[in-house]
Amino acid sequence: MKIRTAVIPVAGKGTRFLPATKQTPKELIPILKKPMIHYAVEEAVLSGIEQIVFVTSSGKTAIEDYFDRNLELESFLRNAGKSELADQMKELGTMIEVTSVRQKEQLGLGHAINCAKDLIKDEAFAVILGDDLVLNTKPVTKQLIEVSEANEGSSVIGVMEVPSEETYRYGIIEGKPHDNDPKTYLMSKMIEKPKPEDAPTNLATPGRYILRQEIFKYLDQIPRGVGGEYQLTDAINAMAAEMNVHAHIFEGDRFDTGSLEGYLNATVEFAMRDPAIKETMIKICKEKLNAYSN
Ligand code: UTP
Repeated sequence: MKIRTAVIPVAGKGTRFLPATKQTPKELIPILKKPMIHYAVEEAVLSGIEQIVFVTSSGKTAIEDYFDRNLELESFLRNAGKSELADQMKELGTMIEVTSVRQKEQLGLGHAINCAKDLIKDEAFAVILGDDLVLNTKPVTKQLIEVSEANEGSSVIGVMEVPSEETYRYGIIEGKPHDNDPKTYLMSKMIEKPKPEDAPTNLATPGRYILRQEIFKYLDQIPRGVGGEYQLTDAINAMAAEMNVHAHIFEGDRFDTGSLEGYLNATVEFAMRDPAIKETMIKICKEKLNAYSN
């Protein structure tokens, strides 16, 4: 069955970016000229997704507005002779169908995904965490959809290799590689932030999932977990105990833009990859290095 919908939870408080996130949703903080969430939605569009469900909270309506048309702005730009920019704004407002649902209390990622249940109906869907950006020619969500299709529509968790000493920062999977595809694992379980000596693999789960709709049954059943929150990990583990769940080592460069370090890294990397500003970026970096080394 075609994966048509991506759920993007954006209801978190973004405390690591305070005070910027006091009034502005974290997801609208820009990397160069586009807000973080724009890259996540672009990934969905390029993966063949037709509908985005944002799981939002109060103060986040600007995200929906960002993906809507702004006719006043478009006509202002046209009247000012900036028709190319006006066309870009129109394209942005029509790039994908957007729906949203409120998460009234921030009770964790599992709870956030469960809020989208009534909008998903009986279909498998993608989950994209907008503060994990992955750059690759073939978008990571598309890679996972293909693995799901090759495995009878199973749920697929995107994973990446991390240094063994960093397993304590991530959800880590346990499983066995496929006979005919060493990058795809049949997952037995996920463990939250294990110490290196307790980690069964070094395969971490940065925030890309294809989930069969049965996940909602498990989300309804799980008790509150770590931190008193409903953990998506717990529901996926319950699912993996009863049906095949795969993990796939995706291709791409991943940036944790929910952290300041990852955000800075992404900003420099995206600038270096943009032919229009690469030279300026190199010049700035060289000047700063000269000024601040020693
Ligand atoms: P994070 O753990 O990064 O939390 O959530 P956060 O609130 O965004 O940021 P910090 O840690 O306070 O700085 C991971 C993803 O899950 C969503 C967040 O919006 C983010 O995209 N989330 C988390 C929800 O939508 N609801 C929740 O209850 C928890």
